[in-house]
Amino acid sequence: MADESGWNASDISHLSIGSVSSWGIATATVAAATVSAETATRRAFNLAPLLDLWTNGSLTSLNEYRIDPERGPRVMRRRWFPSAEACPMKQILELRVNGDRHEIGVPTHFTLLETLRYVLGLTGSKQGCDKGDCGACTVLCDGEAVLSCIMPVQEAEGREIRTVEGLAGPQGAHPLQEAFDLTGAAQCGFCTPGILCSAVGLLESKPDADRDEIARALSGNLCRCTGYTKIFEAVQLAGQALSTGRTPAEIIGEP
Ligand code: FES
Ligand code: FES
Repeated sequence: MADESGWNASDISHLSIGSVSSWGIATATVAAATVSAETATRRAFNLAPLLDLWTNGSLTSLNEYRIDPERGPRVMRRRWFPSAEACPMKQILELRVNGDRHEIGVPTHFTLLETLRYVLGLTGSKQGCDKGDCGACTVLCDGEAVLSCIMPVQEAEGREIRTVEGLAGPQGAHPLQEAFDLTGAAQCGFCTPGILCSAVGLLESKPDADRDEIARALSGNLCRCTGYTKIFEAVQLAGQALSTGRTPAEIIGEP
């Protein structure tokens, strides 16, 4: 039986405890699809915070209760927070990101990616699969490409973290960013921050990397839009720019 919030007890048991998993969303979505039309509107309204998950990552809900004389404790109001705000277990960490030093309180279960996006507001690194498969979350850690979605934030302490926001310098875009622009290597852009970081990790240690080495360095970055031909062209062009000190535009004769 649904309470006044539009959820029945089994829904609440899936959704009111801790962070909401994608399994929880799937369960709620199936449950919502099977309710009567009368409650569907209210349910759709109540599902709205869950849709934030697609853009904001994990949420935590806290319920407020009232005592119904006949039915006992009932959920009166459910409030949703980004997990960072609701989690009581925080740890003070010092992180160095893009040359800035941050002393921050971070939920102890956070990954580096969650910390970058939801604590520091650096949303350039994308939360794709969130399990180490797609490479959208790639950042540089002491110059080496790492998957920030599976890196506990504590492991980033004392290391130099560089995200896509930190690739450009005072002179402007990084040569690789310029090469992506000139060759049309980026389309939807969801994978692009991770690809840029993986490629910068390679080029800054080996600017003359050949096609096979570039392919190997980017093998953990999935792009569903472009195919990789233009991406490889862009990385090679940026490599030439870094080796010769010329700009990508000068190399290909663009004004
Ligand atoms: S979001 Fe990290 S590998 Fe997909
Ligand atoms: S540009 Fe769209 S997934 Fe890579």
